[in-house]
Amino acid sequence: MLMPYFRPEIEAMAGYVPGEQPQTDRFIKLNTNENPYPASPAVAEAVAEALRRGLQKYPDPMAGPFRRRAAELLGVEPDWILCGNGSDDILTIVTRALVGQGQRLRLPYPSYVLYKTLAQLQGAESEEVPFQADWSLAEAFAQASDDLRLVFLPNPNSPSGTMIAPETILALAERLPCPILVDEAYADFAETNCLDLVRQCEKVMVSRTLSKSYALAGLRFGYIVAQPSMIEQLAKVKDSYNCDALSIAAATAAIGDQAWLAGTRAKILATRVRLTREMRNLGFVTVDSHANFTWNPHPDLPVKPLYEQLKREGILVRYMDYPGWGDGLRISVGTDEEIDVCLQRLRGMV
Ligand SMILES: Cc1ncc(COP(=O)(O)O)c(C=O)c1O
Repeated sequence: MLMPYFRPEIEAMAGYVPGEQPQTDRFIKLNTNENPYPASPAVAEAVAEALRRGLQKYPDPMAGPFRRRAAELLGVEPDWILCGNGSDDILTIVTRALVGQGQRLRLPYPSYVLYKTLAQLQGAESEEVPFQADWSLAEAFAQASDDLRLVFLPNPNSPSGTMIAPETILALAERLPCPILVDEAYADFAETNCLDLVRQCEKVMVSRTLSKSYALAGLRFGYIVAQPSMIEQLAKVKDSYNCDALSIAAATAAIGDQAWLAGTRAKILATRVRLTREMRNLGFVTVDSHANFTWNPHPDLPVKPLYEQLKREGILVRYMDYPGWGDGLRISVGTDEEIDVCLQRLRGMV
């Protein structure tokens, strides 16, 4: 029903639909790329300590303790970092700061669906540039266009798990007339990242999240690394207290435990190898992944019924259908046991 109160662009848009979050433990949940392992024990201690100190006072508006700890680890100064309520908050801040009504935002296709929603919220145009068949970027991705204000590039990409090399991204940034946000939500599962490019080129910004590699999707904490002149402008757009005291304490403890990260990453990468191999044995054209999920189209079988059957059997994977590109199952790397159950069930279906 049309409401007379809302901006036309809000009325016209469908709204972003996040992956399904069933509120029961009945499912093996492999649909939203969460980490199957519990976070570092340092997180629970830090939250307990923050609760002991009390929550009467507002938190540090710039999440200072996290900024300082992350800056040490990343080899930048704290004023190169801005924190957010999950990296989705960072993506929102960047879009609001850079892209005005009627202006343009570019994203590759298929990629993270939220970017398009963010453009719609601004009343902006989104330019979706299809990936090439091998998941490399088409020449059109680097071309200037009128009113282009921001380019999003998830790297590793979702749903494919593929990566664009940092040298290619630097060359791209140098040609583009606007900043590029490299969304590194999954970079901790990859071999390379674009942090060095931020130092080399003020147009490159990198966003990260604690939701995936640090197993804190329920906490909501992400951040962006960019040159201080960029951070200064972005900070004007954020809510005053966009990160709460508990999340700042927990996120600071989480990144402080790099030994935990290394151990968990190693387990996930080993399971990813097995998942990829076994899905190919089942006839899927599984793409080599640099993230904590794999993308599995099937050349002969319709995959939606497989998703539906898995769901009936208590296993939730993500069915994605990209018009003009094709569909597939995106499967998060769970524990070995979870992946074994999923593979076992699929073997009975294909
Ligand atoms: C490419 C990409 N970027 C960002 C996010 C958002 O992560 P969060 O808001 O939990 O930090 C996701 C979540 O699935 C993602 O796939």
